[in-house]
Amino acid sequence: MAIRFDEAQKIFHLDTATSSYVMEVFEQNYLLHLYYGKRIPDHNLKRLKYKGSFASFSPSNLLVEDGGFSPDICMLEFPGENVGDFRLAAAAVRNADGNNATDFRYESHTIDAGKPGLAGLPALYVEDDAEATTLEISMKDAVTGMRAILYYTVFEHLGAMTRSVRLSNESARPVMIEKVYSTCVDFPTHNYDMITLYGRWFKERSEERRAIVHGRQTVSSLRGSSSHHQNPFGAIVSAGADEDQGEAYGFNLVYSSNFSFDIEGDQNGGMRVLMGINPDGFDWLLQPGADFQSPEAVMVYSDQGIGEMSRIFHRLYRKHLIRGKWRDRKRPLLINNWEATGMDFTGEKLLSFARVAKEVGMEMLVMDDGWFGDRFDDRRALGDWVVNEEKLGSSLPEFVQKVNDIGLKFGIWFEPEMISRESALYRAHPEWCLHVPNREKSIARFQYVLDYSRKDVRDYIFDAMRKVLSSANVAYLKWDFNRNLSEVGSAAVPADRQKEIFHRCVLGTYEVMERLNREFPDLLIENCSGGGGRFDPGMLYYSPQIWTSDNTDPIERLTIQFGTSLCYPASTMGAHVSACKRTGYDTKANVALWGSFGYELDPNTFSAEERETVKAQIAEYHKYYDLIHSGDLYRLINPMHNAFRAAWMFVSEDKTEALVTSVVMRRPQETAFYLRLKGLDPDKLYREEESGEVYSGASLMYAGLNLIGTDLSDGSSFKLYFKEVK
Ligand code: GLA
Repeated sequence: MAIRFDEAQKIFHLDTATSSYVMEVFEQNYLLHLYYGKRIPDHNLKRLKYKGSFASFSPSNLLVEDGGFSPDICMLEFPGENVGDFRLAAAAVRNADGNNATDFRYESHTIDAGKPGLAGLPALYVEDDAEATTLEISMKDAVTGMRAILYYTVFEHLGAMTRSVRLSNESARPVMIEKVYSTCVDFPTHNYDMITLYGRWFKERSEERRAIVHGRQTVSSLRGSSSHHQNPFGAIVSAGADEDQGEAYGFNLVYSSNFSFDIEGDQNGGMRVLMGINPDGFDWLLQPGADFQSPEAVMVYSDQGIGEMSRIFHRLYRKHLIRGKWRDRKRPLLINNWEATGMDFTGEKLLSFARVAKEVGMEMLVMDDGWFGDRFDDRRALGDWVVNEEKLGSSLPEFVQKVNDIGLKFGIWFEPEMISRESALYRAHPEWCLHVPNREKSIARFQYVLDYSRKDVRDYIFDAMRKVLSSANVAYLKWDFNRNLSEVGSAAVPADRQKEIFHRCVLGTYEVMERLNREFPDLLIENCSGGGGRFDPGMLYYSPQIWTSDNTDPIERLTIQFGTSLCYPASTMGAHVSACKRTGYDTKANVALWGSFGYELDPNTFSAEERETVKAQIAEYHKYYDLIHSGDLYRLINPMHNAFRAAWMFVSEDKTEALVTSVVMRRPQETAFYLRLKGLDPDKLYREEESGEVYSGASLMYAGLNLIGTDLSDGSSFKLYFKEVK
């Protein structure tokens, strides 16, 4: 069993393939954390039990046999606030008396096969109860009557677990939840580095690593989206850990709005790691008998470096987060008109794209922004989801039929959570956007954010989308989100619930996305937010791929894709070849092949030679699809750490084939360079396809590939494909 409870010692022992996680029910039912790290197979973990300790200025709640006990200096599993632990609390509830003293103690637990879903929230799932085991620990605050159920699900074979918390008000009076993190893990030492992903529009998810110090260090979002600026991902790695060695703990929140990833280095050199909804901008009024479910946090442990941590995330997400038909089905190779035309297109122009696209082997035409209402520029029409037939030259079903007749599938763009100031919808319903009374609303890209906490708004938008989607043969939808939330308030909820709006809005978004998934199970949904501004596992639950960045420059894309890959698998990263002139078509495709591949340009501009190049690239997309979409990623040379070159490779699960890609960012002044491959079987022999040379896995990994003689000019690149010879 992946989860055991030792009744005599009162110890919980949760195992995955790589890790163990251990807790203890201590005296007075304090739930203590004992260990999270490399798997410990022992059945008897008595020696890990807490012995009690004492520190001046740390208040004691009770005495134990061999010393004092203070919640301030032990490892706590779900620490409350204002009851003697001065570190960051995992939860704080202001009770009806007005104070926020919160103290949850263990009451009972259950252990069951499988994994329950989370009502209204995205979450990892299993198809068979044998795939995971779930522990529910019921904690109670005897004074306020609040209950906290802590959920732990262990994906034993994958080295991963998830955590979430449900709070319920079992008292007779309303309370205010001021904060509730999804996970909290105390570590005995903070001798680690933290790695997070920072960025901005056009430069998402760059890796940043720093030593953890005493005090608090936080990355978070208050933008009403997970954001371009910080990702709800963070890793804790042992000092000196690299791709291949050292310990790495990965944390990722399955949530698409305000998050916080907090680490507090404490007085004893330990640390507390928390991840959950950002307590800033959040309150939740809980009536007697009501529940509040936190989002889910994913935790991955690897003792084989950061690379293995990423591969565990990738395997986990490919199977237990991405869902629906498109989880396993091959995604169509698309062409999107946005970069080529902006909103300046006609139906005829798009059909001309489609004809060439078909000739070279592309599979789907995506009509981006500009097809509805009077949307000729970004100042207007969001919310008016009615096809502009004049622009298209026909009705939508007729137009889609023409695209289908050419031999392509058809996809369409929406921005369902937004409303333009210049729109029929805004004129009819100015109260439908987020706003606070008597205060000017900030505008961004000439648009406001719809109040998705309101059911009437959600129903209206969903009906409008449904009309469009069911009128024609639409195979794909790009769901965009082009600004962040400000003046966050709703005309539809009372004053004491206004701080719920951030969370209520994302729940509303999830609800509409869920309806879309249910009513249109064949639709492939690609998420987008000005590129990758909402690249998070919450969104991946509803849309198996996300447009990684509006930046399609292949050199710029390298740091973005490397950073994104720390947590998210290749199949989730929308990556297109564009008209960008920085490099030739080869490098553009070599970089874009890493993700869900496509084109974003006017194919009418292809020269005869370029057409042939593109045809060859499309053949490669088919050839390498399975290897890239379901193989293991190895980052060989990270462009964040090397100014000259980037290199990565995919290895099939059975280690019989591998694809290596390398890009020169800036000409290296080198006279010798060996690129050492990873992840191969040292005992297998591999033939490199182009040269026909046969090498052992050992030679490729330990000695490496001699790169002397390869093109070193800026922006050049190569791919090498290896196949096992028996
Ligand atoms: C965002 C997206 C782009 C495109 C435009 C349309 O910026 O990231 O790909 O869809 O919106 O307005």
